[in-house]
Amino acid sequence: MKKALLLENIHADAAVQLRDEGFLVETLPHALSEDDLAEKLRQDVVLLGVRSRTQVTRQALRSCPSLLAVGSFCIGTDNVDVDACLDRGIAAFNAPYSNTRSVAELIIGEIIMLLRGVFDKSRALHEGVWLKSSDRSREIRGKRLGIVGYGNIGSQVGSLAEALGMEVWYYDIREKLSLGNAKRCRSMREVLRKADVITVHVDDAPKNAGLFGDAEFRAMRPEALFLNASRGSVADLAALAKHLKSGKLAGAAVDVFPKEPKRNGEKFVSPLTGLDNVLLTPHIGGSTQEAQRTIAAYVSDKLSSYFKTGDTFYSVNFPQVHLPILKDSHRLLHIHRNVPGVMSQIDSILASEGINISGQYLETNRRIGYAITDIGKKYDAGVLKALEAIPETIRLRLLF
Ligand code: NAI
Repeated sequence: MKKALLLENIHADAAVQLRDEGFLVETLPHALSEDDLAEKLRQDVVLLGVRSRTQVTRQALRSCPSLLAVGSFCIGTDNVDVDACLDRGIAAFNAPYSNTRSVAELIIGEIIMLLRGVFDKSRALHEGVWLKSSDRSREIRGKRLGIVGYGNIGSQVGSLAEALGMEVWYYDIREKLSLGNAKRCRSMREVLRKADVITVHVDDAPKNAGLFGDAEFRAMRPEALFLNASRGSVADLAALAKHLKSGKLAGAAVDVFPKEPKRNGEKFVSPLTGLDNVLLTPHIGGSTQEAQRTIAAYVSDKLSSYFKTGDTFYSVNFPQVHLPILKDSHRLLHIHRNVPGVMSQIDSILASEGINISGQYLETNRRIGYAITDIGKKYDAGVLKALEAIPETIRLRLLF
């Protein structure tokens, strides 16, 4: 029976979905060490699901002849050696977009809390101090929101903000489709000059480290707000603290930090702690029950459709192909080292056996070639042996 192993308390929906697909699913609430993982993988595991703790290293993959795919039930894949997976013909998937809505909602909530000074008033009240006042308390309606990085999250923040009556301006280094009435700025300076609220949603490109420093905070409008839920390296928090203390900026919300504690309860240190009208959250922008459920559905889908059809769309390491389910045909999936001439070897083996090819695709990346050949129902088992014997073959799979 085909086995799936799901580690680290992956949302229960994933096991339900994979069982419905006919997998024998084993779930474990914790991560496994390298050796324990290697031992498990030796036992005919076909699909492996992890979150961010299990290290899927080359060593852990040393003997896993049945393993076809690894799913990271999270956003990043830093803990999975995707090149080692490639070398063994193992496809890797993750869920890069499944928590975008969660981040966007947090940002919208924070903008309202910051504009109204809710956090400080609530903190005072918890300490028994009544602070009823409309001073520095503003509505979101009519304010200008400046979005730096108009990708999956930035553009959703824009749509939600516009629905609440904000005027949306954005800056992105790439050409983007403006949603609703959002307007594009030609430079980051332009968006900084225009907006009452700046929210940052850039990716983790190395050049984005230090994107916001003293000069950028200085360029913002007086009493503007700054929010960052993208990457900790993007903003210089000492410079931000300076501009908050001087009153130049009226508030900030920060979810990501240059140095984040490794585990709950560990001490957190930041120049922003203790400042007025500053919301600090422990990197929870994307952490919601809904996001976990969406991740479970998305990654399980990717794993099972790779298993069933060979589809690698949105794989993080394989060349990407979108493949339909076939009727009355077989599908040969040939994964090989990407050197010239493999395709012609495949074709001459099939031609010499007189096999009818109904469809053929080849996609490559820097390391591997992924050749998909749909053939008629009749074939000789010797063909598979011949294809496997091509010296560059990493793995051969027959479907349907
Ligand atoms: P994305 O890749 O869809 O969008 C990033 C956008 O930023 C792209 O359009 C890109 O062209 C643009 N960009 C890159 N550098 C730029 C620059 N210097 N100036 C202007 N635009 C620039 O990414 P997505 O999914 O929207 O995520 C955005 C960020 O949010 C990422 O850094 C991601 O790691 C982070 N994130 C944080 C979470 C949290 O829990 N706080 C959860 C999920 C994502």
